Amino acid sequence: MALVTMRQLLDEAANGGYGVGAFNVNNLEQVQAIMEAAHETGSPVIIQASRGARKYANDRFLYHLMEAATEVYPEISVALHQDHGNSPETCKSAIDLGFTSVMMDGSLMDDGKTPADFEYNVGVTREVVEMAHEVGVTVEGELGTLGGIEDDVGSGEVNLTDPDQAVEFVELTGVDALAVAIGTSHGAYKFTKEPDREVLAMYIIEEINERLPGTHLVMHGSSSVPKELVDIVNEYGGDIQPTWGVPVREIQEGIKHGVRKINVDTDLRLAATGAIRKAFAEDPSEFDPRYYLKPARAAMQKVVRARMEAFGQAGHAKDYDPISLPDMAVRYREQGHQLTVT
Ligand code: G3H
Ligand code: 13P
Ligand code: ZN
Repeated sequence: MALVTMRQLLDEAANGGYGVGAFNVNNLEQVQAIMEAAHETGSPVIIQASRGARKYANDRFLYHLMEAATEVYPEISVALHQDHGNSPETCKSAIDLGFTSVMMDGSLMDDGKTPADFEYNVGVTREVVEMAHEVGVTVEGELGTLGGIEDDVGSGEVNLTDPDQAVEFVELTGVDALAVAIGTSHGAYKFTKEPDREVLAMYIIEEINERLPGTHLVMHGSSSVPKELVDIVNEYGGDIQPTWGVPVREIQEGIKHGVRKINVDTDLRLAATGAIRKAFAEDPSEFDPRYYLKPARAAMQKVVRARMEAFGQAGHAKDYDPISLPDMAVRYREQGHQLTVT
């Protein structure tokens, strides 16, 4: 099976009232862990690569890993998405490579750090929507900024999304999906205590969903940072300070209010690191990479499986036949940017 478009996955998810996890990958073991979890649970899935991931793995390796994934798991609907594209050029290179979806993150300037103004964001996002829809590719935009910095990406400054601006932004750009800032951040250090409904501003999602019921909402920085995973890392020599992530039950509330894509990276990083540290500690004489990568892969698979079940995507992999990119392009041309696929 070919890769499917994210638009189709998200429209189907909206129809079925569930969310779809979007998991970041950089290497073979991450792709395998996610695909195996999708296979086990019968889930459609979004696999995403940041600019850092594309650089780390090399575009060609990354793309062919995804090709292999669709060959090995032909029954799984999988979309390949550019995470946090910093410019129309980055999005164009992802589209040329074969990604079926791109994020134009115009909430930041193209340095990926400096917060951008609304006009700049609208301009670059609109440009990407025109270019991507022309060839059937899905576009995610972002309004408001997240906290936290990953790999030098992010301003570290939080600007919650303004619902009035969100309505204007979607109208002006024609994005398929909108990432909203509700107080989360990338990485392990999101909250210093269990977040209440003021710190984690779920009310923004509810308000935007009321105003834009047809727009798929995206939650970034949505790792839950489970204490069990942090404890394993620390038990085997790691140093992760006490921290809280986004509770799964809050994500489930979001899904009831239009959240369709949930970005998770950190939880897989924690799972892999804990498993590798444990393996190293248990047998310091081992030096075959398979000895520690196998438990790392299994630990990531377990987290992904749990999220797929919690987000409700489990069991929906075979609900529909994929629409090809050229067919999606025709639909955008005929129905406009705000089409509905289902
Ligand atoms: O955007 C955040 C993701 O966790 C990707 O992180 O830029 O370190 O690959 P990265
Ligand atoms: P986490 O750091 O919470 O996993 O967020 C990942 C993300 O938003 C990728 O875009
Ligand atoms: Zn993100």
